[in-house]
Amino acid sequence: MGFEAGADAYDRFMGRFSRPLARRVVEALDLRPGQRALDVGCGPGVVTEVLVAALGADAVSAVDPTEPFVAAVRDRLPGVDVRLGGAEHLPFDDDAFDVAVASLVVTFMADPVAGLTEMRRVTRPGGRVAVSVWDHVHDRGAASTFWQAVRDVVPGRVSESSDLLWVEEHVEELCASAGLVDLRPAEETVTLTFASFAQWWDPFLLAVGPAGAYLASLDDGVREAVRRRAAERFGPPPFDVAATAVVVVGAVP
Ligand SMILES: C[S@@+](CC[C@H](N)C(=O)[O-])C[C@H]1O[C@@H](n2cnc3c(N)ncnc32)[C@H](O)[C@@H]1O
Repeated sequence: MGFEAGADAYDRFMGRFSRPLARRVVEALDLRPGQRALDVGCGPGVVTEVLVAALGADAVSAVDPTEPFVAAVRDRLPGVDVRLGGAEHLPFDDDAFDVAVASLVVTFMADPVAGLTEMRRVTRPGGRVAVSVWDHVHDRGAASTFWQAVRDVVPGRVSESSDLLWVEEHVEELCASAGLVDLRPAEETVTLTFASFAQWWDPFLLAVGPAGAYLASLDDGVREAVRRRAAERFGPPPFDVAATAVVVVGAVP
């Protein structure tokens, strides 16, 4: 899915959007001192860092199936218990945490209900689980202008894959199917200003995530046509890019 490109590439491509979102997702959990938190699908540690600032490294665990990300979190956030693994089989005991977070991750789980059920299992009764997904369904995600440009150039191509869009559209139902209760969905929008088109475009060439992986699969002519179309859509710089996520917080019964 394009996460092997490594931590620095991720930071440049998606971290710029996921960092401000991470603060909002963690705020929605209303953390208390002394609580223990798990970051599922931690990537290179964007949400983990916010959790560490709130609770201290000793109170935070993180897990991700992508090795370079696990290594980056070990390096960047000493003291955090970071493990290699996927959400569907979390390497933690029942009720080990007060809160569990998966920001921009449910879309990538092989089995979202299994992953969310595991997050419920490792969170104590009365604790909370928070998840977020970009709203690419309504063309409001972090990569929506990219996908709009792709659709202009490649007829019949939908944004992301239909599987990813299905998960984004049904994230609240997936949380309910995993046994989470008192679900509170909200929208969060982060806005970045780009001083030049290259500042926005160049990280797409790093082959990170579904958009970067798709771009890397195109031949040079189509890639260039997508670049030109995206530049036309934005108009002259500077320009703003707004990205909206659906954030769902649920309780563990
Ligand atoms: C878009 S990144 C989000 C990273 C980070 N949470 C953030 O907000 O920046 C998606 C992450 O999900 C991870 N991932 C992919 N499949 C997963 C699975 N089955 N369980 C947990 N994480 C998974 C990827 O390795 C990647 O780090």
